[in-house]
Amino acid sequence: RIVYVNGAYRPETEAKVSVFDRGFLFADAVYEVTAVIGGKLIDFPGHCARLRRSLAELGLPSPATDDEILAIHRELVSRNALELGHVYLMVTRGEADRDFVFPKADTPPSFVLFTQRRDAIETREAEQGLKVASVPDLRWGRRDIKTVQLLYPSMAKMEAKRKGKDDAWFVENGTVTEGTSNNAYIVTHDGAIRTRALGHDILHGITRAALLKVAGELGLHVEERPFTIEEAQGAREAFVTSAGAFVTPVVEIDDVAVGDGRPGPIARRLRAAYLDVAI
Ligand code: PDD
Repeated sequence: RIVYVNGAYRPETEAKVSVFDRGFLFADAVYEVTAVIGGKLIDFPGHCARLRRSLAELGLPSPATDDEILAIHRELVSRNALELGHVYLMVTRGEADRDFVFPKADTPPSFVLFTQRRDAIETREAEQGLKVASVPDLRWGRRDIKTVQLLYPSMAKMEAKRKGKDDAWFVENGTVTEGTSNNAYIVTHDGAIRTRALGHDILHGITRAALLKVAGELGLHVEERPFTIEEAQGAREAFVTSAGAFVTPVVEIDDVAVGDGRPGPIARRLRAAYLDVAI
């Protein structure tokens, strides 16, 4: 692969970041993942806007203008002949002596992007649905900032895998916040789409915004409020969204089947409608 590091396009084996980089030492960094379908970037303006917000919330310097960031995405897609997959972007507070105090404001940020290929839009998960296990949400209190502090989500996913499940849903104060790397939804028995409202406790998913728009266009009622694991287990359907999962049904929660234990018609319809609009 050709990757982008601080202004240069290089073969991945020749791309280097310092061992003193604050992304490495302190997870002092933010990221974005933008899907690529048919060589086209999906929802780039949304990802770019969220990146700006993450940078601002942490006082991280901007590595480039929006137009430059778009141009780098396009260049990487083109140089790697990427048809299907995603572009990963990361900005760190740069290289400095290890110190809890931030380095001088003029320290250049590290700016890294790379592409990752996938084989198909339709995955086993999308076709058969996900089994999820609940885990306590022990992440920090600013999950709306897309930082690279992903150790706990990674541990939660491993815990789910150990139980023979596909993913974990985080629970805080009795309600589901989100998945390890996706937003969580249920379809109520009234046919409404319910998902947690935006706040500091979840990531403001770009796919979530697109999904809620599509749901509205299909005439589905949307309720932005939290739900419990028991409500999700008793719901008509459940599903998740992300730049990687698009819309993926959830068919089992903590060993209890959701609905008839197969992907539901509303999640299927939303997936098709989302992909229609996105592509
Ligand atoms: N994850 N919630 C969390 C905790 C996430 O990490 C993600 C995305 C989402 C969905 O956001 P979006 O629709 O903008 O992708 C929700 C990315 C895909 C990742 O970490 O790979």
